[in-house]
Amino acid sequence: MTSRDEGLSSNRALWDEWTGIHETSEFYDLESFKQGGIRLREYELEEIGVVTGKKLLHLQCHFGMDTLSWARLGARVTGADFSQRAVDLARSLAAVLDIDARFVCSDIYELPGALDDTFDLVYTSRGVLGWLPKLEPWGRVIAHFLRPGGVFYVSDIHPVTWVFDDTEETTDLKVRFPYFPRLEPVAFPVKGSYADPSADVKTKFEYAWPHSMAEIVTSLSSAGLRIDWLHEWPWLEWQLPFLVPRGDGTWALPPDQEGEIPLYFSLRATKPSA
Ligand SMILES: C[S@@+](CC[C@H](N)C(=O)[O-])C[C@H]1O[C@@H](n2cnc3c(N)ncnc32)[C@H](O)[C@@H]1O
Repeated sequence: MTSRDEGLSSNRALWDEWTGIHETSEFYDLESFKQGGIRLREYELEEIGVVTGKKLLHLQCHFGMDTLSWARLGARVTGADFSQRAVDLARSLAAVLDIDARFVCSDIYELPGALDDTFDLVYTSRGVLGWLPKLEPWGRVIAHFLRPGGVFYVSDIHPVTWVFDDTEETTDLKVRFPYFPRLEPVAFPVKGSYADPSADVKTKFEYAWPHSMAEIVTSLSSAGLRIDWLHEWPWLEWQLPFLVPRGDGTWALPPDQEGEIPLYFSLRATKPSA
């Protein structure tokens, strides 16, 4: 049985390795970003709105491309991640691009001890929740960093999508993985990285924890946040064997598939003022 700490420590080593691969990958296309790109998606720009002058904390920021994109849009940004290599790269990118940004290296659960500040907006997106063993303390960390009246925004793969087998070249929807939260992680053998499946990676497994939609919503509300809305989308930004491309950089169930499932979600919550 893999413990929580063994899983987290192996994942941290994996993210250090992946950062080196991602830095030069076509997937992240860092060279275009250096020319002045914004790596954020239309839906989040619409859902979050204007950030000019806002203090923004980006949780699980990887090497900071999205964090620096928010800065280019006028936010005063802080990014946090537990991979030292990712944080080092984020800091050097900010320096090279002359963008005012702060990056903190810390496990998300320990961040309140490493960063003393409050924010108008706490943001996290695209491939974040599965790396976290428990969401109740995650909700408390978010509430801790929001000023009264501040807003939290998350978008990620929908917990329902998570349960289907994505390990074989099959187009069938086959339920294979747990939906409900549990302490023991699911171990996936590492095959390169999502940004470059052919890359040579030494870490053997990536460890993931399932989280139900009930756990996501309840962890935020029990930390004192008010859920403003929850959007569920029938598309995903990455490829799975049972999805087909829609032609706009997203994937969905084939048009002839009977029935529907949510594949992606976004959620906004507010810390009440009083
Ligand atoms: C998929 S990335 C986020 C992706 C980012 N939106 C992007 O597109 O680059 C997930 C990030 O979570 C970080 N992470 C995983 N577990 C963490 C933890 N317990 N505490 C802090 N960061 C963590 C990893 O280091 C990684 O940079």
